[in-house]
Amino acid sequence: PGSLLSVAHLSVSDVSKILTETARLATLAPAERSALLRGRTVALLFYESSTRTRTSFELAAKSLGATTTLVSDKSSSIEKGESLKDTGLTLRALGAECIILRHSASGAPFVLVRETGLPVLNAGDGMHEHPSQALLDLRTIMTRLHGAEGAASVGERSLDGVTVAITGDILHSRVARSNAMLLPRLGARVLLCGPTKLLPEVAASLGPGVEIERDFNRALAQSQVVMMLRIQRERLAGLELDLSDYIARYQLTGEKLAALAPSALVMHPGPMIRGMEITDEVADGSQSTIEEQVRHGLAVRSALLARALGSGAFKGITV
Ligand code: CP
Repeated sequence: PGSLLSVAHLSVSDVSKILTETARLATLAPAERSALLRGRTVALLFYESSTRTRTSFELAAKSLGATTTLVSDKSSSIEKGESLKDTGLTLRALGAECIILRHSASGAPFVLVRETGLPVLNAGDGMHEHPSQALLDLRTIMTRLHGAEGAASVGERSLDGVTVAITGDILHSRVARSNAMLLPRLGARVLLCGPTKLLPEVAASLGPGVEIERDFNRALAQSQVVMMLRIQRERLAGLELDLSDYIARYQLTGEKLAALAPSALVMHPGPMIRGMEITDEVADGSQSTIEEQVRHGLAVRSALLARALGSGAFKGITV
């Protein structure tokens, strides 16, 4: 109960409840907020580097009054060979009531739930999913398109008529996978855009509402939102990508941005590599939502922690 392992496990009504609670928590006075998880303990277990996800979960938990502890693979007994199961059981024995897990292996959060019985929030597992990122991206889009009130509740038609171009290293991207599953369920059309090496011909396995458009300019011309992705050099082994050709075709420049409507959004989950997938001009431009996404991450992750620990609007609800 309370875990978030995959967006596939969330109904549209679940998503709406999470975003409604996100909005409500943002209105609470600090004293009321910090009473929600007072006396509760949250463990952050990170086997891969992170800035945004780790910090926002930690700050969210602290702002709700929880005690947090961070275990990272580089400074713990994981370095000595301790297994995920034993690390999870150790955290549980120390009083952790919820574990936020980032892991390089797809499916690791499912193992941790099975072995510990604790609620686990998937903070990114290998090339599989990053569900809290998709939720914060959704809140960012909803807020920009429909205002704060519109973002507080979503339904199956909330993103009708909205095309989102997800561009770059789709193959390795858990952010792309979670967004491509979530956004079409709210009515969006998702265009996946990138070269064959980073976006293989997998049309048969794409879900409803998801298409491939290899030409970046054509994708931009059809989109109200463009989501740029980092090339994951750490996962590229053997792919021999021609980076100058990639930059020429897929880098989002001020010139290419002209194909988008002035009201269109430029998103990036971070970390971004300026000069690779995006130029300074675009990253720092008025259409960029990059810092807003980070702020929405803090807000959405507060609601996910409340949900995991049965607090706030989720009190007494077994999800
Ligand atoms: N977007 C994201 O997951 O960033 P971090 O790797 O910094 O957490």
